[in-house]
Amino acid sequence: MNKRESIGIFDSGIGGVTVLKEILKILPNENYIYYSDSKNNPYGDKTDKEIINICDKIVKKFIEQKCKAIVIACNTASAKAAKILRTRYPEEIIIAIEPAYKMVHDYEYEKETLIMATKGTIESEKFYKLYKKYDNHKTQILACKGLADIIEEGNKEKIQIYLQRNLSKYGGTIKNVVLGCTHYPLIKKEIQEVLGNVKFFNGANSLAKHLKDILKEKNLINDSEKNGKINFIDSSNSQYKKQRFYKYLEKLVI
Ligand code: DGL
Repeated sequence: MNKRESIGIFDSGIGGVTVLKEILKILPNENYIYYSDSKNNPYGDKTDKEIINICDKIVKKFIEQKCKAIVIACNTASAKAAKILRTRYPEEIIIAIEPAYKMVHDYEYEKETLIMATKGTIESEKFYKLYKKYDNHKTQILACKGLADIIEEGNKEKIQIYLQRNLSKYGGTIKNVVLGCTHYPLIKKEIQEVLGNVKFFNGANSLAKHLKDILKEKNLINDSEKNGKINFIDSSNSQYKKQRFYKYLEKLVI
């Protein structure tokens, strides 16, 4: 592995930009290949087998491109495929994300909490273990079927209607919201419009730190002085996705 080689990062679409943005804050000189798998979007309703097959193909592509690390910037794919991918490719550095429920346990244990994630994440064994381990007994879990899809689509009105319909009942009681899907940080403002002034928890920051620690440990940090390049690839070649990805990359403050 070479210090200058790229880091491969993928999600079912552009949601992983919220993870890349956190990584860029502490690893700005790396080169990145971002793979938005919009052809297979959404991942949230797929079976374990389907997700594993999809992720396996993407990981193989990154290995062919000699990526020095692979980031699964999707909670659903992380929950269902990370373990098996690490077993299949033990030589590779594979970094996965998980809903930041441990942070609630560590910093805001006493408060009413809502975990929002895809159906796939919530039904996974990995999530069940996380939840059981850090349960603060004041937590509600919401499988947000279809939400990542409408965020991906970028239709503001549909997002507002969805949130009104599904989140209103929690208004006034919930103080912490765990954003357990990498698309959800893109709609923090809209979530607050329904729930009020809640505190958000997002696993992207811990993932970024973990990635940096591993690269450091293996002496793989790119030590060039210049900012790295970001190469965006969308599996259905969508120009619309590409434009939105770069727009978020420029503007997003997480
Ligand atoms: N962004 C993904 C996640 O973090 C999944 C969205 C989807 O395709 O359902 O779970």
